[in-house]
Amino acid sequence: MIVVKRAELIFICFMLLHGFAATLNCRKATPESLFAELEKNVFPKNLLRPVNNFSTPTIVTIGITVVGIIGVDEKSQTLTTLLWQVLEWDIEGLSWDEKECGTKRVSVPREKLWVPDVFITQFTDEDKSPKTPYVYIFNTGRVYDDTPIRVVSSCRLEIYTFPFDIQNCSLTFGSYLHFDTEIRMMHSSTSEEILAESHNVLETNGEWVLAGITVASSNLTLNLGSYSEVEYHIILRRRATLYVVNLLIPSCFLITVDLFSFMLPPHSVDRSSFKMTLILGYTVFLLIMNDLLPVTGETTPLINVFFSISLALMVASLLETVFITNIQYRSCPDRAVPHWLSVLVLQYLAVVVCLPREENSSRSSIFLNPSATKGQNSRIPNVPGFHLECLPGDAAPTEPGLDELRKVSRDLLAIRLRVEQHFQGGQSRQEWQMVGRVIDRLLFGFYVVFITFSFVTIACIWTWSNSYAS
Ligand SMILES: *[C@@H]1O[C@H](CO)[C@@H](O)[C@H](O)[C@H]1NC(C)=O
Repeated sequence: MIVVKRAELIFICFMLLHGFAATLNCRKATPESLFAELEKNVFPKNLLRPVNNFSTPTIVTIGITVVGIIGVDEKSQTLTTLLWQVLEWDIEGLSWDEKECGTKRVSVPREKLWVPDVFITQFTDEDKSPKTPYVYIFNTGRVYDDTPIRVVSSCRLEIYTFPFDIQNCSLTFGSYLHFDTEIRMMHSSTSEEILAESHNVLETNGEWVLAGITVASSNLTLNLGSYSEVEYHIILRRRATLYVVNLLIPSCFLITVDLFSFMLPPHSVDRSSFKMTLILGYTVFLLIMNDLLPVTGETTPLINVFFSISLALMVASLLETVFITNIQYRSCPDRAVPHWLSVLVLQYLAVVVCLPREENSSRSSIFLNPSATKGQNSRIPNVPGFHLECLPGDAAPTEPGLDELRKVSRDLLAIRLRVEQHFQGGQSRQEWQMVGRVIDRLLFGFYVVFITFSFVTIACIWTWSNSYAS
């Protein structure tokens, strides 16, 4: 009896010592004998979590390396990456002697072993990467499972500062079913190591630069229990060169041309048609470049605001030209400039915009001269007119000649009136033109100030948002 009990005790002790699997005793140092041992001790238990006790959690260590950033889809808000995922866990009690079995590690088909059900929470599409059929078992009982995975994960994309945007996408690895009492997740390397290794192997990254990776373990607690998770944050920065060259620089060129078109005289039709052509060109440019812009309903990217402002500025400057042309070429130029307008514009605003009055007065004085001497002039025709009137009284030798003279006098009078009127009109037209020039210069000033202000603001937001220090 005692002997039997002792034998049982020894057996139990043996079981406790060796745990879930036993130490393998290879008969020869060949793959066949190792495999035979594994087939006997390990493979039949591939449906069980490799622990002795239910209360022992399996610790799964995860390591990822970012191999490729395939793309970011703003419309469906997804990030597609190619990762190398390494999972490691222990088969409790399994071990063999390296010399006895002839190897330190052996690869076995994945189906022959229990593997943890590690998923990525953000998966939105099935993993289409090729499946690797094997995993390594080490002589310490450690299982090493290295697979490539193509992850299409949902990611909240912030495109407000496009094309200078930085995206922060999370990948959360954890068991789908097992609570943290069964599977506990750990990360194998630090953020810096992952980043350095990823930079070493990163091949396809398209328009994205891997700016940083951070890793942290976390717990997700739900009603039934809590899940152990490892959370990675992948920080991506967009390469903006393409967009700067294709979108921003041409846009700035067009705005600059629009700015310089203020140098054209507004009264010539050239300026308005020039600006019209610019607007047309800009519209076509926007239509062509529309494909480059991200499409999403959530936020409007700042670059769209930039384009809108540019277009609005062009339209505003065209309207300004129409307005100025209207002022300078009014339908009734004979109407003099109202006094208040003349004072406001020609005396005050002209000083503000540095358009000196002297030039105006000296020029208008040429035209003013005839009207200034109008008083004298008007008397002169009167005298000959009177003279002519008097002539018949003195003597009327040549009646037909006198009539001729009278007619000529009347004609002259009419011509003089017309000329006077013309000069007067010319003067008020001159004044209107001056008013137009002053207002033109003033609005140009506003235009420049507004452009500078809005563009500097936008540039500041872009610079500020792009200054992520990894
Ligand atoms: C990325 O987002 C997570 C939250 O989703 C945040 O904890 C983390 O600090 C962010 N990383 C950076 C660099 O902004």
